[in-house]
Amino acid sequence: MATSALRLENVDAFYGDSHVLQNVSFELGEARMLGLLGRNGAGKSTCMNVGMGLLSARRGEVSVFGEPVTKLSPEMIAARGVALVPQGRRIFRSLTVRENLIVAARKPDAGSKHAPWTIDTVFAMFPRLKERSNQMAAHLSGGEQQMLAIGRALMGNPRVLLMDEPSEGLAPQIVAEVMTTIRKLKESGLSIVLVEQNPNLVFDVADDIVILNTGGVAVVSTPAALRQDDALLRQHLGVF
Ligand SMILES: Nc1ncnc2c1ncn2[C@@H]1O[C@H](COP(=O)(O)OP(=O)(O)OP(=O)(O)O)[C@@H](O)[C@H]1O
Ligand SMILES: [Mg+2]
Repeated sequence: MATSALRLENVDAFYGDSHVLQNVSFELGEARMLGLLGRNGAGKSTCMNVGMGLLSARRGEVSVFGEPVTKLSPEMIAARGVALVPQGRRIFRSLTVRENLIVAARKPDAGSKHAPWTIDTVFAMFPRLKERSNQMAAHLSGGEQQMLAIGRALMGNPRVLLMDEPSEGLAPQIVAEVMTTIRKLKESGLSIVLVEQNPNLVFDVADDIVILNTGGVAVVSTPAALRQDDALLRQHLGVF
């Protein structure tokens, strides 16, 4: 089997005494997109935190391109080529757009197959960020802040991109723009986990789907199979 870009194997994770992830296993294939779905509180962000090293798995293993990273710090995991676009954007509000991008810059790995991301290539992908490059990030619209959050992750020249609900709180037109960007990133060969609550957003772009329910993996499937299974979607996600 081909090496997976990111793999969680039998992961248990806790916030203090609260046992949030239970025996979670899934894998993201190289150059593929995995849609990670689940209701509020299902454990999606916790999985992303574990993948990025922001929260350590108490049991189980996390690996990136076949190398174990389970006990590594977020900085070391970033150095292995993983970047997170966090839920709620988390940009530096009192820095300018340009400064937000500069502080996130990291050289690509020596063996990287991709052209490196720079301020210029990020601005080429998001012309609106270029127009606002000297503005304080706090003054951007929600959609622009999301673009900045994505641009910042790209400045780390990742091989694996974890995107946690990038559509949250955005108007439909802006969501469509963000999804177009995500599609382009996938076509560029990045391996992507796209976390969402709304399956309709991910079914068009994802290759594989994992649905979490109360901290465990409930379904591993594909968009094609799940489109035919309304009952299963209703059971784990509610109605869309
Ligand atoms: N820092 C924390 N401390 C304690 N409990 C937490 C913390 N963060 C999340 N939780 C709990 O862990 C569980 C999983 O949360 P998580 O944020 O991973 O869900 P999610 O699927 O990302 O939900 P959402 O769609 O609302 O973002 C929830 O029960 C949540 O209340
Ligand atoms: Mg979340």
